[in-house]
Amino acid sequence: MKFQAIKGVRDILPPESALWNHVEQAAREVFRTYGYGEIRTPEFELARLFEHSVGDETDIVTKELYSWIDSPKVNRALRRVRAKAIAAAYRAIHNDPAVREELIKEMEAGAFDTLNEVNRISLRPEATASVVRAYIEHGMQARPGNVKLYYLGPMFRRERPQKGRYRQFYQIGAELLGPSDHPALDAEVIEMLLAFFARVNLQGANLYINSIGDRNCRPAYVERLRGELQKVRDKLGADSQRRIETNPLRVLDSKLPEEQPIIDTLPHIADHLCDACREHYTELKRQLALRKIEYEENWRLVRGLDYYMRTTFEITAPGLGSQNAVCGGGRYDGLVELLGGPAATKGIGFAIGTDRLMLSLQDAGTAEACGLQVFLAWFGAATYPAAVDLARKLREHHLSVELPAQEMKFGKSLSLADRLGARFAVIVGEDELAAGQFTVKRLADGDQRKLAEADLLDYLTKSRTA
Ligand code: HAM
Repeated sequence: MKFQAIKGVRDILPPESALWNHVEQAAREVFRTYGYGEIRTPEFELARLFEHSVGDETDIVTKELYSWIDSPKVNRALRRVRAKAIAAAYRAIHNDPAVREELIKEMEAGAFDTLNEVNRISLRPEATASVVRAYIEHGMQARPGNVKLYYLGPMFRRERPQKGRYRQFYQIGAELLGPSDHPALDAEVIEMLLAFFARVNLQGANLYINSIGDRNCRPAYVERLRGELQKVRDKLGADSQRRIETNPLRVLDSKLPEEQPIIDTLPHIADHLCDACREHYTELKRQLALRKIEYEENWRLVRGLDYYMRTTFEITAPGLGSQNAVCGGGRYDGLVELLGGPAATKGIGFAIGTDRLMLSLQDAGTAEACGLQVFLAWFGAATYPAAVDLARKLREHHLSVELPAQEMKFGKSLSLADRLGARFAVIVGEDELAAGQFTVKRLADGDQRKLAEADLLDYLTKSRTA
């Protein structure tokens, strides 16, 4: 039997994985300069944690969670009952009342008694809920100042796979938790995010911001929206019709072309913010301007998770098709309290879709810088020890080096160097050894020079960072 990775998940192979490492390393370096430390949380948690924080009615919870019952006893009982139910279905055709009795007996015997919250587990669809759970569990509010945490890792959502949308995908995220909800914190979180995008050379990113109010002003706006949506119910698609009851804000997210003219006529939340939320939003914009951060306001940016309040933001990037959101985030001041922590703790954060960031970087050709740097071609058995020695020295200077185990013909050597994507070929031949110099060839343009060992190390090291 031949095996393949299942739908919606994939392998990340070299040389692409080198770009992943480069990007993840850049995130660690940039986030450190803003005082963030890494948190590693489990990849599965109680299903209830996500239901409670992301929201019972959200797509993530109702359609996309990977969950299972983590109890052999309950699973055995389920299998037993299922088998009996199938048998019952057959026998019911013959109208056998004894079968019904049997099922009732199984239930009464307590087959399901052990099925409780502790047994229902989900793969994490996102990490904010886990970070907040960990913050509360470890009493991190006792730490001085704001608690600043970042994470990298896989998330799981059972979505319909397409370009930039996977069932196992990766996020690079950061969360700031603490007593203050000052908009300067929101602006600094966004500044850090943009500093990271600049570090990895992401081009053409656009920042969109919005404020979705808080528990004082949003309920009245949501009611108003619901009222307006009810008036146009017949013109909406099935999803939006359902959301009129469950979550009218999500209608604003709709991408259905026929709903766009209707959505354009709906009331804007900015006109319904309470004084405190309006001031918060105005100050956020001032703080962004102070940092020379360009943004666009998007009144429809409500985000698909329930825990947000006030600031929401998203970043789009080119080369991604319809899944062009490379990052989403916002403020979630009530979440710590909702999960049983101190009410005074506020929070803000974001998560970058690493897969999408990679697609965008690859589309722009940024991937090349991470591949093989030096192909070390040696000719003549006597030169091999010198080649081994040189390869070790180059690697000690953090250069990636390919050293053929066996001697190759000159032409073959250079052709392999080219196909491996090496930036330089360094040639170690008997003439070179005798002259105490190496020939180095830049493969992109054929530039060639002869350098003594110390100069060669200097030249290659500088070109690595160029
Ligand atoms: P989110 O908007 O659900 O927010 O996800 C953040 C980013 O993850 C998206 O912008 C997208 O780039 C990426 N992403 C989401 N689903 C997929 C998928 N199926 N395949 C590939 N990439 C995907 C959150 O997860 C929040 N926890 C962000 C946050 C942190 N808010 C505050 N703190």
